[in-house]
Amino acid sequence: MSGSADAEKQAAAEAAAELAEDGMAVGLGTGSTVAFLLPALAARNLSIHCVATSPATERQAVDLGIEVGPFDGIGRLDIAIDGADQIAPDGWVIKGGGGAHFREKIVAAAADRFVVIADSSKPVDSLTPPVPLELAKFGLAATLRELGQVELRDAPESPDGGVIADYGGPLGDPAELAARLAATPGVVEHGMFPPELVSAVLVGRGDTVERLTIPA
Ligand code: 5RP
Repeated sequence: MSGSADAEKQAAAEAAAELAEDGMAVGLGTGSTVAFLLPALAARNLSIHCVATSPATERQAVDLGIEVGPFDGIGRLDIAIDGADQIAPDGWVIKGGGGAHFREKIVAAAADRFVVIADSSKPVDSLTPPVPLELAKFGLAATLRELGQVELRDAPESPDGGVIADYGGPLGDPAELAARLAATPGVVEHGMFPPELVSAVLVGRGDTVERLTIPA
């Protein structure tokens, strides 16, 4: 990843860190952009309680002195901040490049505001495959057969015991594909995040941070 992409990720992450306030419950995403968010959040010395979407994020956050706890006794989050692999003009987002999309989607859906942070390579004219999947181990061969064009990722199983894979078939209408993936038994979660889930998109571009408008 080039230095300028890292600078853009950092700029977007720092802008998002400013959205956190004392007393908030905050969802922390996963990935190289979130890796810039965590020090920016820590530097603000806020009294916040966080939930992490991956062991890697949890480790980094705890090392930085951010309070992180389990996500089984908290019904809602004030804000969740996470990266993305692709961001379409209509607000559809593909996530899961790091295989954490199952937890990321639960955290995003539980948040009053879900803020996406990215460098300028992530906005695209239209979404293209692959779409990350988390699949149940039970009946895996049957699920793969049902889905069609899917490749298993050479990656460890998820913290929830799922198999990480990528759907490489035609994407077409994101809503239709998302519905088909969600309706396929054995698909634990897919990496397509609908616009209704996304509150704001902050994109680092050169020296500036653009706020993309999500159509209502
Ligand atoms: C992990 C994700 C990441 O947020 C997404 O892949 C973007 O990663 P990065 O910030 O490293 O570009 O969805 O599952």
